[in-house]
Amino acid sequence: MVRSASLCACLFLLIILSCHSQLLPRLSFPMGSPGRSLTVFTSPDVYNTTTLLLSNDEETLFIGARDAILSIDVSQIDSMTFKEKLDWSPSEKDLVDCSMKGKMQTVCHNFVRVLQVLNGTHLYACGTFAFSPRCIYINSVTLTLATGPSGKPEEGRGRCPYDPYQKNTAITVDGELYTGTVADYRGTRPVISRHLSEGSHVDLKLDDTLGWLEDPTFISSTFVHSEEKVYFFFSEIGKEYDFIDKFTVSRVAQVCTSDVGGQRTLQKRWTTFAKAQLLCQAGQELPYNVLQDIVRVDPPEGASDDETLFYGIFTSQWRVNLGRSAVCAFSLKDIKRVFTGRYKVLNRDTLKWSTRVQEQMANPGECGLHNASDNTLRFVKDNFLTDKSVPPVNQRLTMVSPDASYSNIAAQRVEGANGKLYTVLFLLTDSGFLHKAVLLDKGVHIVEEIQMFHRPQAVKNLLLSVAKAVVLVGSSEGVLSLPVANCSHYGSCADCVLARDPFCGWNSLRRVCIRVTRSEKQLAQDVDEGNVSEQCIIVNPRARPGPSSEVVSVSLNEVVHLKCPEASHLAKRHWERLNSQLSPKIYIQSDNSSLSFVATPSTLGHYLCLAVENGYSQTLVVYHVKQKSNPTILPAPPSRPNITPTTETGNKTDISTPVQSESKPKQVNVYATVAHKDSPAATTWKSRNFTRWFGFEEDKSQMTEPGGNLNQADKGTYLKELVVVSILLALCVSALLTIAFNRFRHVCTNQTVPQTPSSRRDLEKGGSATPQERESLKGHSPRLEKRNGQASNGVSHNGQSHNGKSAVNLSNSMLNVSNGHLPNTPI
Ligand SMILES: *[C@@H]1O[C@H](CO)[C@@H](O)[C@H](O)[C@H]1NC(C)=O
Ligand SMILES: *[C@@H]1O[C@H](CO)[C@@H](O)[C@H](O)[C@H]1NC(C)=O
Ligand SMILES: *[C@@H]1O[C@H](CO)[C@@H](O)[C@H](O)[C@H]1NC(C)=O
Ligand SMILES: *[C@@H]1O[C@H](CO)[C@@H](O)[C@H](O)[C@H]1NC(C)=O
Ligand SMILES: *[C@@H]1O[C@H](CO)[C@@H](O)[C@H](O)[C@H]1NC(C)=O
Ligand SMILES: *[C@@H]1O[C@H](CO)[C@@H](O)[C@H](O)[C@H]1NC(C)=O
Ligand SMILES: *[C@@H]1O[C@H](CO)[C@@H](O)[C@H](O)[C@H]1NC(C)=O
Ligand SMILES: *[C@@H]1O[C@H](CO)[C@@H](O)[C@H](O)[C@H]1NC(C)=O
Repeated sequence: MVRSASLCACLFLLIILSCHSQLLPRLSFPMGSPGRSLTVFTSPDVYNTTTLLLSNDEETLFIGARDAILSIDVSQIDSMTFKEKLDWSPSEKDLVDCSMKGKMQTVCHNFVRVLQVLNGTHLYACGTFAFSPRCIYINSVTLTLATGPSGKPEEGRGRCPYDPYQKNTAITVDGELYTGTVADYRGTRPVISRHLSEGSHVDLKLDDTLGWLEDPTFISSTFVHSEEKVYFFFSEIGKEYDFIDKFTVSRVAQVCTSDVGGQRTLQKRWTTFAKAQLLCQAGQELPYNVLQDIVRVDPPEGASDDETLFYGIFTSQWRVNLGRSAVCAFSLKDIKRVFTGRYKVLNRDTLKWSTRVQEQMANPGECGLHNASDNTLRFVKDNFLTDKSVPPVNQRLTMVSPDASYSNIAAQRVEGANGKLYTVLFLLTDSGFLHKAVLLDKGVHIVEEIQMFHRPQAVKNLLLSVAKAVVLVGSSEGVLSLPVANCSHYGSCADCVLARDPFCGWNSLRRVCIRVTRSEKQLAQDVDEGNVSEQCIIVNPRARPGPSSEVVSVSLNEVVHLKCPEASHLAKRHWERLNSQLSPKIYIQSDNSSLSFVATPSTLGHYLCLAVENGYSQTLVVYHVKQKSNPTILPAPPSRPNITPTTETGNKTDISTPVQSESKPKQVNVYATVAHKDSPAATTWKSRNFTRWFGFEEDKSQMTEPGGNLNQADKGTYLKELVVVSILLALCVSALLTIAFNRFRHVCTNQTVPQTPSSRRDLEKGGSATPQERESLKGHSPRLEKRNGQASNGVSHNGQSHNGKSAVNLSNSMLNVSNGHLPNTPI
């Protein structure tokens, strides 16, 4: 009874959980899985290997670490070998100064935070240098210190943060260094600046008096050659949203590389600085407003530069979206359009922003203003925030993470076997997994997740080497390298096609799943649909060699549990018998697909567990449930007063009173794990376990009759109990199922329909949304909506995973709530 009650409880739980099913990675590789092995670079005296730089030929990886810069050879895909090391530590005096300033010893080091290729022979590096930033030139071949034009180490202020936990960005263009960082010890003076300029090209920075940046967190920067502009990506306080206190917005800012500052006005200051909001928002939902990382994907060969895309990871400042993040794509075309459009103007007296009313003196954000009049430059100085925001491509979120928050992103366009281009995103989760996702017309497919770290990492870096086809990850645990795919993990055509990995295809001649290359295109692959029957030559599935059956010996009236291995998180598993139906009255299939039933003469026989994925069905495991000889049914003979129960570990405990076990059903657990790489024919048994809960030790001498007949009397007692147990079980199951389904419907309804109380509660719990904020959101929801430039139904069929989307609906229901209409209130 206890057992069946707990079974019911489990069933109930699983039913509730099942409506949470989300965008799942198809396969999971925990740390150390042989199918996705990592190459690790660590060195006992090297710490915090977090700043990564690939050489142009992608053969050498430069690593900015703690008090050191290293180069390692990454020309071989499966090895990382140490090449050179440059020690770059603060002196004793620097360390003393650092502690005098009240800093902990752990941060009084030199954390290298800027590492850039300067020219063909030299690198440029900046480090926090015990809270006194410094920069150096490095010979990139010998990895030795080189003298720069000034002949001595340069001060790193404005190039590198003081605090190693402060984020910054830097990029070199034509030997000049463009940086976004804080330029003071306290971290309160943010600046975007240019350094290492020569001749008439002077070093430039932002005019700080204006508040051109509002407490920014710098994320990334990139140079777009066709525009001759450097773009900076960051998040900051959106002062234009004066109705919300400390509303974070994400931004893209631009400067022209040709900028040399003004002649009187804006002398040695940017004349081309402009910034715009990046909006990662779907319809009226709360925006994912905090940029975490962003990566550029160049257009396909022959396409215009306007097709350049930027894929960003965003999280939300509101607790309702805690633990989730969204990916949004922005096109260069949209960014350019916003920067050439209208600008907002700041009223210096009220510090309020408004859409421009004054006469337009110039086009802010335009390159080549250096000879402009003072009037023009003053105008430019006041007009640097665009009126419009940059909308995401197709006005929708590219994806919302499953229950993970992403911190780093890398992306690549991959040519599939059919010549079609797919975008593959590599996303690092906060918990230390790497998700590989492919963007499809129908939504996102997460091919696999691979565990990269034991412990979550505060500072980490993700880099993709397209030439070497590896993903590189820098963290304080070392540098990791992972091939973008391991096609040989898929052992059959069906496996290879079901993976829907654009990197992999099935070669039917050699019968291997291999990497798609330009020379190897005649491969079976279907990234969009994963349709096995179209791609693979499938003999009648029933006739395919299946796994040989595993014999399970049971006694009558035992509860039998049969486990089914998981082929993929996306496969639906079910059980079949060879020649009869599985009646739900007798069989319980839990959501993880284990099958439970009471052994009776009619339930003995063969059981198959099948997995169905994308309409393709394969047998994962076959059991043959057989009755074993009946040693336990005889009453204990008086001559043997000590009955010894046994556990699976084999230790025996003497007890003096015999356990009355006949009345309780026995239990047999069969644990079977099948590595999912294997084709059914190659199924292997990793472990096998039999647990007896209430069993007597079987006397070997009584087991001499294989398949011995049941004693008639015992059959009678068992039958009575069986009937009672079955009835109770059935009652319990039906009662709980009724409750469960009601609950299930309720929960699922809550999932998809915005509901006031719960989201309100979430908000209040969130704490970060103040009552004022909520009021503001209510009052201004039409404005948010309008700015998005889309009717609310513009995103309701956005091709995202259905479940992923409904989760967003739930969490973002605030704005719907604001109009006082409760969609799920019966009228
Ligand atoms: C399947 O679910 C049952 C009940 O929830 C649980 O006892 C069992 O351990 C699960 N099996 C596997 C392989 O996860
Ligand atoms: C790829 O997968 C196969 C099969 O699981 C495994 O033997 C091999 O080591 C894997 N290779 C890599 C580089 O992970
Ligand atoms: C450096 O690494 C240690 C662990 O080795 C970690 O605790 C610390 O946060 C890291 N510091 C930085 C600035 O990354
Ligand atoms: C690269 O820059 C360094 C430092 O300014 C300079 O000494 C060196 O000559 C430059 N090399 C080339 C090839 O321009
Ligand atoms: C801008 O000024 C520079 C010198 O300051 C001059 O050489 C150049 O011709 C001027 N350009 C224009 C377009 O007036
Ligand atoms: C796979 O392709 C076949 C033939 O084109 C089609 O009949 C079948 O419906 C497809 N299956 C799925 C799951 O799309
Ligand atoms: C059997 O032995 C193991 C360790 O040897 C012990 O942990 C376990 O409790 C024992 N079981 C019984 C039933 O005594
Ligand atoms: C059988 O199960 C026990 C406890 O559940 C476990 O300690 C033992 O390692 C298992 N044996 C096998 C072969 O998996």
